[in-house]
Amino acid sequence: MNRTIVKAEKLRKVYHLFAEEIAAVDGVDLEITAGEFVSIMGPSGSGKTTLLDMIGCLDSISDGTLEILGEDVSSTPESQLVKTRRGQIGFIFQDFSLIPSLTALENLQLGLFLAGKQTNRQKCLEMLDKVHLSHRCNHLPKQMSGGEQQRVAIARALVIEPDFLLADEPTGHLDTATTQTVFALLKEINAQQNLTIILATHDASIGSQTQRTILLKDGKIAS
Ligand SMILES: Nc1ncnc2c1ncn2[C@@H]1O[C@H](COP(=O)(O)OP(=O)(O)OP(=O)(O)O)[C@@H](O)[C@H]1O
Ligand SMILES: [Mg+2]
Repeated sequence: MNRTIVKAEKLRKVYHLFAEEIAAVDGVDLEITAGEFVSIMGPSGSGKTTLLDMIGCLDSISDGTLEILGEDVSSTPESQLVKTRRGQIGFIFQDFSLIPSLTALENLQLGLFLAGKQTNRQKCLEMLDKVHLSHRCNHLPKQMSGGEQQRVAIARALVIEPDFLLADEPTGHLDTATTQTVFALLKEINAQQNLTIILATHDASIGSQTQRTILLKDGKIAS
C-alpha cells in the first residue's frame, strides 16, 4: 500500500480577528498518498492557502487531527516541525519567493543550506538543467522572465529531495502559455519521480488536469 503523506480528520483553523471568529478551514477530512497529484480549488477566501499552510507545518491547527508523513503535528515538538518543514517539504509560491540578490544557482544552494543539507554545487547545476535553465545559472531573478523564475523556484524546492511538494497558486502570476509550461514541468516531475504534489489553484484548466481535485467552499470540502 502507498505511504500516507497527509491525513486530516475534522481539521479546523479558526482565526480570531477582533471580536470576529473566522473558520478558515472548517472540518476537513482528507487523505493523500504518495505519488498523487492533487489540486485544491475553490473561490477566493475558501481556505486553500490556510489548508496548505497547515499541511506545510507553516501554521498551527485549531482543532481536529493532522498527520504529516506519519507525524501527528499537534504532539510533535516545534523543533521537529521546523526540521520537517525545511528538510522534507518543498514549497512553491505564487510570487516565486526567490532571494533577489542571489543568482539562480545561489538560490538553490541557499535552499539546500536551509534544509540542513550539503550545499553541493554540482547537484544544484544538475537540478537547474532538469528545469531547462542551465543557461540562466548566473542570472539574478530580475534578469529572468516570470516563467524562468518559477522554474528556478521549482528547482530549489526539488533540490532538497523533499517527500512532497506544496504549490500555492504557482501559476497565478504567469500568462497562459507560461502557465502550461510550468504546469507541464510539475506533471513531468510527478510522473517521472512519483513525487506527491499538492497544488492550490484558481485555474480550472490546471485543476482539471490533476489526478484528483478537492473543491473547498467556506472552509469545507464541497466535493
Ligand atoms: N491570518 C489571518 N487572520 C485572519 N483571517 C485570516 C487569516 N488568514 C486567512 N484568513 C481568512 O481565512 C479565510 C480563508 O483564507 P485563505 O487565504 O485560506 O483563502 P484562499 O482560498 O487561499 O483564498 P485566495 O484564493 O484568495 O488565495 C478568508 O476569509 C481569510 O480572510
Ligand atoms: Mg490563497
